[in-house]
Amino acid sequence: MCGIIGFIGGEQAAPILLGGLKKLEYRGYDSAGIAILENGQIDIAKSKGRLEILYDKIDGGRSFHGTAGIGHTRWATHGEPSDANSHPHRSRSGKFAIVHNGIIENYATLKAQLQDKGCEFASETDTEVIAHLLEQNDTGDLLETIRRTVAQLEGSYALGILSEEHPDEIACVRCASPLIVALSDGGNFIASDVTAVLPYTRHIYQLDDGEIALLRRDDVTVYNAEGRRIEKELKTITWSVAAAEKGGYEHFMLKEIMEQPQAISATISPRIGNDGRIVLDGISLTKEELKAFHRIFILACGSAYHVGVVGKYVIEEVARIPVEVDIASEFRYRMPLVDERSLVLIISQSGETADTLAALREAKSRGARVLSIVNVVGSTIASESDDVLYTWAGPEISVATTKAYSTQLTLIYLLAFYIADALGRVDTLTLRHALNELIALPDQIQKILDQAPQIEQFAQRLCYLDHAYFIGRNLDYAVALEASLKLKEISYIHSEAYAAGELKHGTISLIEPGTFVAALACCERLFDKTVSNIREVKARGAQVLCVTQQGNEAAAQQADHVFYVPRTYPLFMPSIEVVPMQLLGYYAAKARGCDIDKPRNLAKSVTVE
Ligand code: AGP
Repeated sequence: MCGIIGFIGGEQAAPILLGGLKKLEYRGYDSAGIAILENGQIDIAKSKGRLEILYDKIDGGRSFHGTAGIGHTRWATHGEPSDANSHPHRSRSGKFAIVHNGIIENYATLKAQLQDKGCEFASETDTEVIAHLLEQNDTGDLLETIRRTVAQLEGSYALGILSEEHPDEIACVRCASPLIVALSDGGNFIASDVTAVLPYTRHIYQLDDGEIALLRRDDVTVYNAEGRRIEKELKTITWSVAAAEKGGYEHFMLKEIMEQPQAISATISPRIGNDGRIVLDGISLTKEELKAFHRIFILACGSAYHVGVVGKYVIEEVARIPVEVDIASEFRYRMPLVDERSLVLIISQSGETADTLAALREAKSRGARVLSIVNVVGSTIASESDDVLYTWAGPEISVATTKAYSTQLTLIYLLAFYIADALGRVDTLTLRHALNELIALPDQIQKILDQAPQIEQFAQRLCYLDHAYFIGRNLDYAVALEASLKLKEISYIHSEAYAAGELKHGTISLIEPGTFVAALACCERLFDKTVSNIREVKARGAQVLCVTQQGNEAAAQQADHVFYVPRTYPLFMPSIEVVPMQLLGYYAAKARGCDIDKPRNLAKSVTVE
């Protein structure tokens, strides 16, 4: 997610903006820029790369004079990292400048309308559309101009706005992306989060969706979506800077677990059209090309591989195309039967994993078409793929992936139904039902997140364990793989995931009185089979936690503990049942006092073989 800072006061703005952007670096970014308004003129400096490049470009801000301005660190979603795609963006005549955090879902339509009116675009971003709309809607009244503009936008946006015709104001708007207004004796600020302003003030207004604020050097006015002035409660932030970076959560991992509903919504909403069709930007695969593929190979590592295991079940069931899923480091050293009739699906949060990149290159060398699902725009894997589908999870700081994993799952579901629809293998009713359930997924996940305290209470029993086993069948097995990895990689408790039906072929010899077994039993058509596996381990003294759908009372008769989860479309259950497992791993690690965000021996992106 991008970072926004704005200031208007008595001091030079540029150094303050650069300092604020420095505080926002932790959010992850690929480019940065600032705009300064002085004597009715906006000057902009922006560049791809680290903040230091921008800093040097404007001599630490000393060459930029003015006491009002806005700044931005960009996490690319639309348009690769580049100077031109960096924010701020300006309108046609240059009289408006804007910075944006969020995704404008209808930007393509708006861009075409603006181009039809002769607008020329300097960037590939969705944000630049807003700058041009401000000019198109300019009434001379800044508030009214902004209201008319945001009325045309669909999606999420936190905006910082400068207007050359309003030299004594900076404006901001909040809709589904966080934004605060901060007040100090020396001037007033806007920021994506409080870390950027803590060196100056702890007094803030927390803007709510639809609210617009106009900041002057000595006062701030806030308006609701209808344009009526409102009084906001002035809050005082007591967090430390470290706590503020985590949004008040103790660890980035918990913050990112809690961000999953919003990350999933950001990833799927722009891809489900008003007509109920799936719109996969970044894919140029024609129906004929899809029909020509004999097999799909899914290649990835770690949690991304676990998404691939889900993908095999889902794509084969929905699109009826054979799917092989392979650990990337294994694929590249076997003699894979990949050729021009193969579609290779690469999954990677970082887009830089060496094993996965090598597997991509191996597949391409054999003539395969490569589609990747990546979280980092412009990453190496993205740039070497024929087609790219981006997850819009925002930067994931914690080494243990959660929101990136969850958004990858949702793109797998969309891709499966997209292919099935293209090949005429899914009826309209089924497609509509599935997409409605997908759209409802964030709310279903939120219900589980609201039960985090109960999961924490249970997890505290795990922290004394030396071993844990996660079992399941079909999609439950795929989630068991991820559940096991989440626990072991951050709590250091030895853990294994097993296909429940496979346990009796050897590993059940490890089950003894007191052994902890988590049985994932959300695949309803196989529930009875999983119950018999629960009985098997119970008979040998295991302590069993069962995760299953609400209303499945039979589970309670078999397991020692049951965690009930909401229902959703059967093929989307991995997105639901993984959430208590993420929390279980997190709270077990917390109870053991582990370094949760930076576990020993691990890196966020494994760029070595
Ligand atoms: C997941 O929690 C781990 N950090 C790790 O398994 C990770 O999923 C794997 O290294 C793949 O990374 P990528 O998605 O960036 O390619």
